[in-house]
Amino acid sequence: MAARIQALQGDITTLEVDAIVNAANSSLLGGGGVDGAIHRAAGPELLAQCRTLGGCEVGEAKLTPGYQLPARAIIHTVGPVWSGGLEREPEKLAQCYRACLDLAAGEGLARIAFPCISTGVYGYPKRPAATLAVGVVRDVLAQTPQIQQVLFCCYSAADLALYEELLDSGA
Ligand code: AR6
Repeated sequence: MAARIQALQGDITTLEVDAIVNAANSSLLGGGGVDGAIHRAAGPELLAQCRTLGGCEVGEAKLTPGYQLPARAIIHTVGPVWSGGLEREPEKLAQCYRACLDLAAGEGLARIAFPCISTGVYGYPKRPAATLAVGVVRDVLAQTPQIQQVLFCCYSAADLALYEELLDSGA
């Protein structure tokens, strides 16, 4: 049986899963990085739908269809901007992962892919972000049988190596 939590390297917009997670900003009106890639691949209907959602707070999650993506749905969340760790960034990042998984479980979205939220433009250091992501996902999955699989979709080889190390070590 395939592992319930896996890491892979690739472009999240290509994944055929129930939902991909977008690392958005609080306007939900698009941006650079993975957000820009998702809007380009999903097509203009996504922006039209996002305009109706009233934005998204840090640590919240909001759902849209996947439109032209192979994924059925997109879960938009907003990670914290890294400010040296003094602004409760770990708590806020953990809340993003929890909110996305709660929403997915409630909507019957069983296979979900996450990007490395906050670790690009928002500057969250990669290792603590990955350690937190793996820990929160493990905790939530232990209590959430509806979710069959979580994929950590790493854009870089370095991120994949980090996630594989964490998943292998059980840390
Ligand atoms: N597939 C998977 N991961 C990707 C892709 C992709 N196609 N493209 C980039 N990444 P970032 P943030 C990785 O900056 O730090 C946007 O402008 C990237 O290598 O996209 O949460 C939003 O609108 C990195 O590991 O998101 C916000 O304003 C990870 O995705 C702001 O950036 C996250 O990097 C959010 O910043």
